[in-house]
Amino acid sequence: MPTRILLQIDSDQHPSSFDSVVAIDAGVEQILRYGDVNADNIVPLVHGAMFTRGGDNLKHTAIFIGGSNVQQAEELMRAAESSFFGPVRVSLMLDANGCNTTAAAAVVAASRHLNLTGCQALVLGGTGPVGRRVAQLLASDGANVTLTSRSLERSREACEEISTKLENNPSLAALATTDQTSTLAALKAAEVVIACGAAGIELASEQDLRSNAALKVAIDLNAVPPAGIGGIGITDKAIEFGNGVAYGAIGVGGLKMKIHRASITSLFESNDRLLDAAEIYTLAKTIG
Ligand SMILES: NC(=O)c1ccc[n+]([C@@H]2O[C@H](COP(=O)([O-])OP(=O)(O)OC[C@H]3O[C@@H](n4cnc5c(N)ncnc54)[C@H](OP(=O)(O)O)[C@@H]3O)[C@@H](O)[C@H]2O)c1
Repeated sequence: MPTRILLQIDSDQHPSSFDSVVAIDAGVEQILRYGDVNADNIVPLVHGAMFTRGGDNLKHTAIFIGGSNVQQAEELMRAAESSFFGPVRVSLMLDANGCNTTAAAAVVAASRHLNLTGCQALVLGGTGPVGRRVAQLLASDGANVTLTSRSLERSREACEEISTKLENNPSLAALATTDQTSTLAALKAAEVVIACGAAGIELASEQDLRSNAALKVAIDLNAVPPAGIGGIGITDKAIEFGNGVAYGAIGVGGLKMKIHRASITSLFESNDRLLDAAEIYTLAKTIG
């Protein structure tokens, strides 16, 4: 059988060593690592993957797009996709900064504690790459999602962008944390709270969350002290918290790693996989 080759394409100078290690652990036999890749220079790399192994053997080559800048990774993904023609293509996965695997892990962890359909979900600091994906996945499963930001404009823009990706008439509401009354009301009514703010920023206090009678699960994805939700420990995993349970960043980390490895493995099952947020979430649910 031909060697399993992964082209690891990264917009940063040094392709992520984390992503390389996970790929090897997922069974990749050869990693070709490229840094400083942009939309203008990615096409020859993609052609090298497309034109070397024909027919059935195309599935033994795949492309992973990473890097610390999710927007640049999305541009790379579009450029790679548009250089395919017909069946002459290879499987592609985007997980820049771990955005898709982290969001999928958080939402799958939440789904262990309640039915997401029709639930009230609050995504704190939801305008970043992880928060947008968390909100997208929750809304795709029918949750009523409120997404917060320091700016109502940014929150609205994120909700609109997410809506364009969903076909199920999603329930997405924008909320600015400067409106303290409605933020507190949203915090008190939420059954699921997922904090996706920047590292080292507290977005909700322990007291506010513990006094929420509706709370079923609170997840804090920030691994850098202080916690994004006061009182949640970084390694907490389904630990009792108020009326519900809590997970910290490392508490969902094990599931995130499993999802990342399984996603890489699935790239080699055919030559036409396209793994972005929704597809990685579908796969994550099978790991749950
Ligand atoms: N556990 C894991 O495996 C893993 C993997 C990836 C990421 N993460 C963590 O997940 C979280 C989200 O990642 P990300 O890349 O999406 O984050 P990000 O883009 O750095 O920040 C998310 C949002 O936080 C808000 N924010 C920034 N500074 C703030 C401040 N001083 N006060 C209040 N809000 C502030 C911003 O929203 P507004 O400007 O709109 O208010 C921003 O859009 C981070 O804590 C990251 O470290 C964890």
